Amino acid sequence: MAYIKLVESSLKTIKDICASFGYRKGDLINVLHKVQGALGYLSAETQEAVAKELGISAATVYGVVSFYSFFTMKPKGNHPISICMGTACYVRGAEKVVNEFKKQLGVEIGETTEDGVFSLTCLRCVGACGLAPVVTVGEKVYGHVVPDGVEGILNEYK
Ligand code: FES
Repeated sequence: MAYIKLVESSLKTIKDICASFGYRKGDLINVLHKVQGALGYLSAETQEAVAKELGISAATVYGVVSFYSFFTMKPKGNHPISICMGTACYVRGAEKVVNEFKKQLGVEIGETTEDGVFSLTCLRCVGACGLAPVVTVGEKVYGHVVPDGVEGILNEYK
């Protein structure tokens, strides 16, 4: 069964987090947030373990994880790149910026490069509309990004 594929330490982390929320089914989103923060992403095995601990179905957990864009089922790259696709960024050309990142990295949204260095995701408004289009790499925020600037951003992390 997939459940036992998790390493012992990950399983303990999941159990501790579920316990800290009193195994309340209503805290599923909060539990998943904490687990993703601790383990980096929510694999199928992790979702199963959370489901078992909270006494709910794996399908319920999967439904929540797949609904919210801030949950990820795949490991992120060492440098996770997020492009804001909120209205202000979109109208100022975020889509072209996304396409340039895709082209240069050879991955689609939601994917990680084969060497594990970069992953690519889109976000809703990050609250810096005056800097649109906005891109974040890890904690660093880049404003007024244009397709021609993508290579320079990537080079900072190579
Ligand atoms: S729409 Fe991109 S920061 Fe607000």
